[in-house]
Amino acid sequence: MTTLLVQLTDTHIREPGKLAYGRIDTAPYLREAVKSILRMKQPPAAVVMTGDLVDFGRPTEYAHLAELLEPLKIPVYLMPGNHDDRHALRRSFPGHTYLGTGEFVQYAVDIEGVRLLALDTSVPGRSEGMLCERRLAWLAQELQRSRGMRVIVAMHHPPFKTFIGHMDKIGLQSGSDELAALLAKHDHVQRVICGHLHRAIDARFGGTIASTSPSPAHQVCLDLSPDAPSMWTLEPPGFRVHVWDAEGPVVTHLAAIGDFPGPYPFHENGALID
Ligand SMILES: [Fe+2]
Repeated sequence: MTTLLVQLTDTHIREPGKLAYGRIDTAPYLREAVKSILRMKQPPAAVVMTGDLVDFGRPTEYAHLAELLEPLKIPVYLMPGNHDDRHALRRSFPGHTYLGTGEFVQYAVDIEGVRLLALDTSVPGRSEGMLCERRLAWLAQELQRSRGMRVIVAMHHPPFKTFIGHMDKIGLQSGSDELAALLAKHDHVQRVICGHLHRAIDARFGGTIASTSPSPAHQVCLDLSPDAPSMWTLEPPGFRVHVWDAEGPVVTHLAAIGDFPGPYPFHENGALID
């Protein structure tokens, strides 16, 4: 059996009609993403949202998010990013009991043979992220417990340098080396999936692969300079699709959001050309 896990990230939902950065209404973009997910030929088993779910961590924004996600009739696993508020998130989604009650929103859920470990990198009131000893101790324990399973670790701030200057300045400020050392001891970790960057980026990390995902709305400009200014663009939006079967590696795709012409067969004048 093939299992798909969709990763949505950085949806930055505002109250209905409010624009992010005075310019973009993120809600219709999430609506399009949901439509694209519902159009997928193989329906995903679940969706994981790797943070910056809303723009200011307000209950009214989370209520709007819940409304926008409602057409997805599959489990949606929520994680906080630097724009979120852990308490408002939990209060707004009381049915999402996996969010727990501890200081950090960290949890383990099993999705058809793969264990998803959500790691909380957010720091209240700060754009930067961190991993402290307590968060890493939880991960160490969960990695030990999940030996023999395939594991995906999810976190908002990527643990690697992206070379986009302004984003690295608000990246993961601590715990990255410790995380790499921990993951290197666990070869059952298939991948580390992240948000925050609003772009698709992949890097080798801790003996596994770490990646970020585009946003369903706005993207961070591809400016790979240390002094890159903080700018965004409306490049085509997307999401990640992580896929696996009964055994073997987790494979990750990049999906574009939208309704495009096609599909067409690889045929010309009755002959197969591919
Ligand atoms: Fe974001």
